[in-house]
Amino acid sequence: MIDLTDLINEISLLVKECGKVILNADREKMAIDIKSGVADLVTEYDKNIQEKLQLGLKKLLPEAKFIGEEGSNDKLTDDGYAFIVDPIDGTTNFIKDYHHSAISVALLKGKQVVAGVVYNPYLDEMFYATKGQGAFCNGKKIGVSSQPLSNAIVLFGSSPYDKNLFQKTIEILTEYFYKALDIRRSGSAALDLCSVACGRAELYFELQTSPWDFAAGKLIVEEAGGVVTTLDGAPLSFEGKSSILAKNNVI
Ligand code: IPD
Ligand code: CA
Repeated sequence: MIDLTDLINEISLLVKECGKVILNADREKMAIDIKSGVADLVTEYDKNIQEKLQLGLKKLLPEAKFIGEEGSNDKLTDDGYAFIVDPIDGTTNFIKDYHHSAISVALLKGKQVVAGVVYNPYLDEMFYATKGQGAFCNGKKIGVSSQPLSNAIVLFGSSPYDKNLFQKTIEILTEYFYKALDIRRSGSAALDLCSVACGRAELYFELQTSPWDFAAGKLIVEEAGGVVTTLDGAPLSFEGKSSILAKNNVI
């Protein structure tokens, strides 16, 4: 049996080191490539951080598989360990120097997330959770808010890599806008989930996200007392793209 508390501490140290790469990046000279389309970008820093995480996590738990956004795709097994990693969630924000991006690391046992870390280096905020042990930010326990939709900040993602989804996004968003206090679009799904987890916002939705965007954040929201499903209320799968709806337990 691995000690998840020890492991999460080690992962946090590793992720914090990687956060320095984001803060010290030379945005003027950085190499940027296009992936699935013109809005889907990757920088040399995404690749560099993924490499660092892959090496570091391998040392911490050699038997674990590794799935990373930037092209490392082991298959999940029924009961083995696997890391699902986003080296920079909010790559466009990073390229624009918008100061709102995060590093996300989830550990799965089989198809269940058992530990998750999301680190925002700009604010030095380390969100983390282990299954059954609550959710924390910088050592302090966090919880979802108890505000109803009428008093909610609603976060949404624009599913930027499939622009066909935007019309539907706007329809859902319009409904929420009239029922809630206000809406926000941050540019980092992992941080949107953490915002719900710590009660800065009440709800987050997006029509298309990938497992590395939500794996760690999902556990952090759930351990903070919130609920995370697909937009139809089904359980999230870590084996492909999915819609997502995260909220406090009142809405
Ligand atoms: C993206 C961000 C964005 C969300 C996209 C994600 P990336 O992740 O989380 O907020 O709208 O769906 O893919 O590509 O910057 O790691
Ligand atoms: Ca990314």
